[in-house]
Amino acid sequence: MKEHKEGAAELIELGRNFPPPSPLVQDALRDSFFYLSRVNAADRVRFPRFSGSIKDREAGASWLARRFDLKLDPDRIVIANGTQSVLVMLMAHYLEPGGVLLTEALTYPAIKPLSQLLHVTLQGVPLDADGIEPGSLEQACLQHKGKARVLYCMPTLHNPTSATMSKSRRQEIASIARRHNLVIIEDDIYGVLREDAPPPLSANAPERSWYILGLSKSLSCQLRVAYVVGPSPSMTQKAFWPGVKTTNWMVAPLIAEIATRWLTTHLASDILESVRVETKVRRTIANKFLGKPVPIHESSYHLWIEVPRDTTLAAFVVALRQRGVAVSPGDSFAVGSVLGDTRIRIGLGAAADHSLLRTGLSIIRQALERT
Ligand SMILES: Cc1ncc(COP(=O)(O)O)c(C=O)c1O
Repeated sequence: MKEHKEGAAELIELGRNFPPPSPLVQDALRDSFFYLSRVNAADRVRFPRFSGSIKDREAGASWLARRFDLKLDPDRIVIANGTQSVLVMLMAHYLEPGGVLLTEALTYPAIKPLSQLLHVTLQGVPLDADGIEPGSLEQACLQHKGKARVLYCMPTLHNPTSATMSKSRRQEIASIARRHNLVIIEDDIYGVLREDAPPPLSANAPERSWYILGLSKSLSCQLRVAYVVGPSPSMTQKAFWPGVKTTNWMVAPLIAEIATRWLTTHLASDILESVRVETKVRRTIANKFLGKPVPIHESSYHLWIEVPRDTTLAAFVVALRQRGVAVSPGDSFAVGSVLGDTRIRIGLGAAADHSLLRTGLSIIRQALERT
């Protein structure tokens, strides 16, 4: 590993997409352990929580009201061990081997190994600045008629582009899903970061939608739970009950207890606010140290940057690594698409402090200007 100019020998992590660190997380953990020491915690977490206790699901319903603008029936909600485990359960529930999963042409990279595990084919659907292109989705449904039953997508602060679907685009996508009888799996893990985000895509077609709100990208990776909203209480039970036996089993009770504590006090809201504030600070640092503002919404802490034309993506990423900075290559997000071939994703949240962030961004700027 080469040393950076400033002398640090460790790799500066701008590849992973963690929320910026909030000093309030340590306070919240201190509060939680103090709280657990006062109540009979051993008794509280002694029993399985399968879909979550009613208190967990009520707490989830009030947090979800931030996105849905209404309080959902807690019987439609399941608290689970993070988005990724929910994805395995829903994909296994709806897709048979040989089936087709529609995704944005750039998608959350973990979808690729998950689909291999389940022997499911991925079909990327082109997207523009407003998210999935309706015409292309329609075409993909016709092309894979009978096989494409499910659409997995991130309509708000899409990873990696940060595109956010407008309200009218959400309505268009929902009506295509109805016309072709598609199940929607909406991953809204970045959704609460953006205060002015339109209501979820799922709210436009609740009868066929599974909405997932994970906490690990808006509050902290330490609290890795996700709330799932199913179309109805009975469908939620049906999809998750057999699933709990084979894959996820159930949320870790102690973590659920802490998540519910955070969501039912001021703790979660305060952490979210501090993550939003720190994101804006880091975006200002990025504008300065990359030399120009990146034209994506200010509430996103991941940037999607074009690499110079006279180098390959792989060579550019390796050169940055040799200079001590890790970034994500754009092609790792691609599903049958060239959209990622000339881009990198920079995550502004993982660097422990501003000094490391400034150094990492300066190294990227030099590389962008040198080649
Ligand atoms: C779009 C998206 N969904 C889900 C996850 C992982 O979520 P969880 O920690 O809840 O499993 C990530 C992590 O990078 C992500 O980018």
